[in-house]
Amino acid sequence: MSLLITPSPATETADGPWPAGARFGADGHAEVGGVDLTKVAGRFGTPAYVMDEADVRLRCRAYRAALPRAEIAYAAKAFWCRAMAAWIRSEGLALDVCSAGELAVARAAGFPAEKIIFHGNAKTPAELRAAVDERVGRIVVDDLTEINRLAALVPAGMRQKVLVRVIPDIEAGAHAAIRTGGEDHKFGLSIAAGVAREAVNRILRQPRLELVGLHCHLGSQIVAAEPYEQSARVLVEQLARIRDAHGVTLPQLDLGGGHAIAYTSGQAGLAPARLGSLAATVERRCAGIGLPVPRLTVEPGRAIAGPAGVTLYRVIAVKKGLRRTYVAVDGGMSDNPRPAMYGSRYEMRMIGRATHEGERDFTVVGHHCESGDTLAEAVALPADIRPGDVLAVAATGAYNHSMASTYNMTGRPPVVAVSRGKARLVVRREGLDDLLRRDVGL
Ligand SMILES: Cc1ncc(COP(=O)(O)O)c(C=O)c1O
Repeated sequence: MSLLITPSPATETADGPWPAGARFGADGHAEVGGVDLTKVAGRFGTPAYVMDEADVRLRCRAYRAALPRAEIAYAAKAFWCRAMAAWIRSEGLALDVCSAGELAVARAAGFPAEKIIFHGNAKTPAELRAAVDERVGRIVVDDLTEINRLAALVPAGMRQKVLVRVIPDIEAGAHAAIRTGGEDHKFGLSIAAGVAREAVNRILRQPRLELVGLHCHLGSQIVAAEPYEQSARVLVEQLARIRDAHGVTLPQLDLGGGHAIAYTSGQAGLAPARLGSLAATVERRCAGIGLPVPRLTVEPGRAIAGPAGVTLYRVIAVKKGLRRTYVAVDGGMSDNPRPAMYGSRYEMRMIGRATHEGERDFTVVGHHCESGDTLAEAVALPADIRPGDVLAVAATGAYNHSMASTYNMTGRPPVVAVSRGKARLVVRREGLDDLLRRDVGL
């Protein structure tokens, strides 16, 4: 068996779309975390999400090394289950959740409540109650009406720590649907329109709320550190304004997540090391206006979970059209809605057997009743690819499992964790029984 290391060196975590522990041989052998992916497909069925535990841990450590004094809060929305919670916790990270469901998983896994930040632009009263009842460390205020509602839920003798999410008015991010830092998005409170200022005034008047800092999140798939430097400058100015207006020095500054990963070889990600300068920017800016340096928080989701995940599909049909040849697999937009939502591109390989055929371009489609159910256009695969072959798709660890649906009454795939040569089922496949159980009938 000839093994070849993929271009994803363990020290430069943002460099390739495959997990650091991925190995591919010319004979079709493919492994992640020391586990043969073809055997995973056989044992757990397809489609299946495979998560490389070591890759997740490596990425957590890269953040801690790049920003040693900052708080690294993993954004659960990228990929979340109890196993992930255990890995994130044992790597010493904090956590960002944005729903009662994500909070429930965290608590079921024993994730410490004080290390949880609760987000959401439209938190329901029940979610606010769950956050307060669970004693989450911080709640991010994203709406004026939320302030009274939240304060009313806090029991006497307790003070709930809150951050205010402001709009720094910086446009960054790979796609309009994932940009959130500019005016006229549904997230955050406008500095320019005076709403952020009003939120601060109201919170400071609430004895059961303790304002501890400001928050912003610019968007996702941001490839440069510069937009973060800009947002840090805007937020430090706001901290100074609050100090001048109210005599209150806020100790925290949360710059959100959104750090890009490579989805295909040659695409640029934003390596955590490149964010190291953020701490210095904040320090310089604070020194310039005589403000104590706040503790920095960053909230990476995709950059921790994304490249750790590989999805395995089985080819069902290879169909020649007039202009293209389609490779149809047993999953699709229900397990990975990103190509249909954002036009996202993915890298994939046929695994499990040797071939001496050259490569040609195929359109890889799913099995759903939707012509937009395309996983990849013009992707190079062996010319003799045929039904029964297994495809491995890279960088599917983030926003695949967490965004999966049951469209066409298709159960969601299992999550298989691989580590040190062992594969473990950590989320089971959703079966027809699960789907039928919800349908209570007439
Ligand atoms: C508030 C907040 N923090 C962090 C993230 C994580 O973003 P990413 O996974 O791109 O790092 C998001 C994503 O939507 C977010 O809304």
